[in-house]
Amino acid sequence: MTLEELAKQIKACKKCPLYKNRTKAVPGEGNPKAELIFIGEGPGQQEDLQGRPFVGTAGKFLEEMLGSIKLKRGDVFIANVVKCRPPGNRDPLPDEIETCWPYLIEQIKIIKPKLIITLGRHALQKFIPGLGISSVHGQPKRREIAELGKLIFYPLYHPAAALYRGNLRETLEKDFKKIPRVLEKVEELLKEKREETKEEIEQKRLF
Ligand code: URA
Ligand code: SF4
Repeated sequence: MTLEELAKQIKACKKCPLYKNRTKAVPGEGNPKAELIFIGEGPGQQEDLQGRPFVGTAGKFLEEMLGSIKLKRGDVFIANVVKCRPPGNRDPLPDEIETCWPYLIEQIKIIKPKLIITLGRHALQKFIPGLGISSVHGQPKRREIAELGKLIFYPLYHPAAALYRGNLRETLEKDFKKIPRVLEKVEELLKEKREETKEEIEQKRLF
């Protein structure tokens, strides 16, 4: 399956009641080989109208922060936990998140990012239940996800939540600037893992 094929399925999806009120489904977009994938909550009004993720005010802010670490939208992949807009921007319901989940899993399987950056509490809660965003933002977490295996997550505040709250905004901007360093660390870890595996193989040859 390609990302395009998946997007086609999402645009035609009627698996949860959110399809009824959508103008356009928002599958997500970006570099199919991105090292970083950003996962928000769900489309807002602008996203619903345009069929693209993070194109409203929160999106502008996200782009600004990407710029602060010398990245453009097209360098990363941007998606959401639910692909259709919850009416009046209400929180997505647990059932809706669960029904839409396989699409996100498939996107991650295709892209194989090095780091998953969750934006806000819904994305964090779905991947790593039980952690509070205010205590773990800006701290990388390694977790095993049943459908995906071990992955590294970097939880951030949601740009829409932080935008107009001075303290949160500063915190988010600071956490964001740590992304390149976190990515370096992930790369070191992956290299170690590869070397360990090589060693294991060599060990087997010895015996
Ligand atoms: N907020 C989100 O969580 N996702 C979007 O795509 C836009 C705003
Ligand atoms: Fe399908 Fe997800 Fe849209 Fe629900 S939110 S209709 S599961 S694409």
